[in-house]
Amino acid sequence: MILVTGGAGFIGANFVLDWFRQGSEPVVNVDKLTYAGNATTLAPLSADERHIFAHIDICDAAALAALFARHRPRAVVHFAAESHVDRSIRGPGEFVQTNVVGTFMLLEAARAYWNELDAGEKAAFRFLHISTDEVFGSLEPDDPPFNERTAYAPNSPYSASKAASDHFVRAYHHTYGLPTLTTNCSNNYGPYQFPEKLIPLSITRAIQGEKLPVYGDGKNVRDWLYVGDHCAAIRTVLERGVVGRTYNIGGWNEKTNIDVVRTICDVLDELRPATSGGCYAEQIEFVKDRPGHDRRYAIDASLIERELGWRPAETFETGIRKTVAWYLDNAGWVDGVTSGSYRDWLDTHYARSN
Ligand code: NAD
Ligand code: TYD
Repeated sequence: MILVTGGAGFIGANFVLDWFRQGSEPVVNVDKLTYAGNATTLAPLSADERHIFAHIDICDAAALAALFARHRPRAVVHFAAESHVDRSIRGPGEFVQTNVVGTFMLLEAARAYWNELDAGEKAAFRFLHISTDEVFGSLEPDDPPFNERTAYAPNSPYSASKAASDHFVRAYHHTYGLPTLTTNCSNNYGPYQFPEKLIPLSITRAIQGEKLPVYGDGKNVRDWLYVGDHCAAIRTVLERGVVGRTYNIGGWNEKTNIDVVRTICDVLDELRPATSGGCYAEQIEFVKDRPGHDRRYAIDASLIERELGWRPAETFETGIRKTVAWYLDNAGWVDGVTSGSYRDWLDTHYARSN
């Protein structure tokens, strides 16, 4: 049995669905079901006894303690977080609560449970914390990509909250000996991503005939990682990672935002030509920049490749085609997750950006 947090969100749900395609070990899936957590994503598992869903806030210490006692997991894979930078700029409090306090509560619950295990179980236990490359701050054009020794320099409330959580995980290993692992990955994309993030936002707005907002000059660079590759990397680190270490995970796919949006438009022109007869790229609109917008992220993934033998299977070109095709085939999922409150967010956010 493993305990996953945030398994109704984008990466967590992909991880849980993948987990059951690869093996049969049960999962207890802890999720608060915020706007970003969608039970419908997990519908394929509704009749699967190996999947136990626990509708719990990771800040709830008593609920977490009861869950550890009942299910006795051999590992924790911690995805639960507030994850959207623009929301952290508008309202950082929730990010401190879930990402910092929530991670602390989870560490405390894990430590109390782990302390009571016998020596063999203690040695085998793992706490795998999923983090981001944004903790390293922003790169200049000629800087080498982030590696595991890059100093932390978080710039947004989101990345500051993730950096704080990374430090707590590190401290729990150093101080208490809790067998932790941390992964810092680059921007993910793929099926089931909430359509507030650049790639699903561009796909869904394009086919609805809406403007495609590109912040600033569109030259900010992100390093894209297909979510299926990320899930494989997480399984690898869980199985073979060296306790106490951190691993950077990336897809070697640095792209400017404008190139990403243009590529999406080109794939859509091919797979779902616009009914107007025009090109989707005509919908691109440059809008006011994000405050404190990090210029460039890039990951050096050579440590995990060299030491653990993981490599991404997708290039950006293959991954983005799969992703666009998935959103075209799953309009019902998008409708289901974009509630009234999300529409309100879109209206206020993009009204203010312009
Ligand atoms: P997401 O926003 O899609 O999902 C987050 C999930 O956590 C949701 O299911 C939500 O309901 C749940 N959650 C939020 N607060 C909770 C709480 N207090 N208690 C229990 N559950 C709660 O996020 P994602 O994109 O899947 O990201 C997963 C993890 O990966 C996060 O830790 C994020 O920081 C990290 N990460 C994401 C990316 C990316 O590109 N998406 C890149 C690097 C790192
Ligand atoms: P996002 O998907 O929010 O991820 P992150 O901020 O964690 O990197 O944004 C990816 C990039 O796309 C980032 O440089 C901001 C930019 N962006 C836009 O240009 N327009 C948008 O509407 C959004 C949501 C993001």
